[in-house]
Amino acid sequence: MHKKILLTGVSGQVGHALKTKLLQHEVIPLSREQLDLSKVHDIRRIIREVKPNLIINPAAYTAVDKAESEPELAFAINATAVQILAEEAARLNAGLIHFSTDYVYDGAKKTPYVEDDEVNPVSLYGKSKLAGEEAIRAVGLPHLILRTSWIYGAYGKNFLKTILRLAAERDSLRVVADQFGAPTSNKSIADGVVQLVNAWQLQQDNQTGVYHFTNAGSTSWHSFSCEIVSVYNRLANERNWPVLKTKVGNITAITTVDYPTPAARPANSRLDNTKLKNTFNVELPSWQLGLQQVMQTLTLSS
Ligand SMILES: NC(=O)c1ccc[n+]([C@@H]2O[C@H](COP(=O)([O-])OP(=O)(O)OC[C@H]3O[C@@H](n4cnc5c(N)ncnc54)[C@H](OP(=O)(O)O)[C@@H]3O)[C@@H](O)[C@H]2O)c1
Repeated sequence: MHKKILLTGVSGQVGHALKTKLLQHEVIPLSREQLDLSKVHDIRRIIREVKPNLIINPAAYTAVDKAESEPELAFAINATAVQILAEEAARLNAGLIHFSTDYVYDGAKKTPYVEDDEVNPVSLYGKSKLAGEEAIRAVGLPHLILRTSWIYGAYGKNFLKTILRLAAERDSLRVVADQFGAPTSNKSIADGVVQLVNAWQLQQDNQTGVYHFTNAGSTSWHSFSCEIVSVYNRLANERNWPVLKTKVGNITAITTVDYPTPAARPANSRLDNTKLKNTFNVELPSWQLGLQQVMQTLTLSS
């Protein structure tokens, strides 16, 4: 069914990818300049003007380390604003697709997390995202909360771009090898959301809820960075890309303890996506395929 979709955060990785993919629908794409989620009255006013029948909210306060020293702003964007979005969507009998994170878990589990597992965020960012989830559940409207992980893409600031920049500048890199998860491309997320928008029956209460939503498989940040450099090297010749200074063999595995950050991160970020497959028959490709697809679209100035 054709939908009128209010889409937030279109300057972000996921928002940007979604804007170009939801072509079957009428999309009202809003950047931070057009809809600042720290301004509660603006959120209510704009939603009442637009009258969407679906809100998709990829906008968020995503600076994981900075959140430790800016808790109020993180909670304002990731929790309070999400509550207002949910209240306004409910008022219009609209649905809400919202994004959450692997960082709602503490990472102590030894196997991939399922949606019913206990949440216990170890960072302020994770706590603020969990508060956003809880606000949506409290409002009680038709919703999909998509917990994803390790997002990257050809667009925006992310791990892929950082590794490529550093590998061009330096002879060697040191990358954390004891955190495990699924790198998930903004393209895979956008493709999956398009399928969900078409498959989701808002009236079916049993579809409302939390879903894990990542590229398939898992790896460590260290192995991911090795794969990034390998794929780059395979494409470099035909693309006329400059040779990287860092060779794969010069990417050293280090531990989380060797690389202290203001915010703690879960060691195990692996999310089991079975519920998504069973409910909607939607599956994101392997993280390796996701990476290849993004690298194919990469222009080195992006
Ligand atoms: N990035 C990850 O690795 C990751 C992992 C798991 C889950 N997630 C979740 O997935 C979703 C999408 O993440 P992403 O990687 O696409 O994030 P992103 O690239 O950091 O984009 C976030 C967007 O939110 C916007 N934003 C921030 N504050 C705002 C405000 N006050 N009002 C309106 N917009 C505001 C930003 O605007 P500006 O462009 O103006 O800054 C940006 O466009 C988020 O819910 C995030 O929490 C992300």
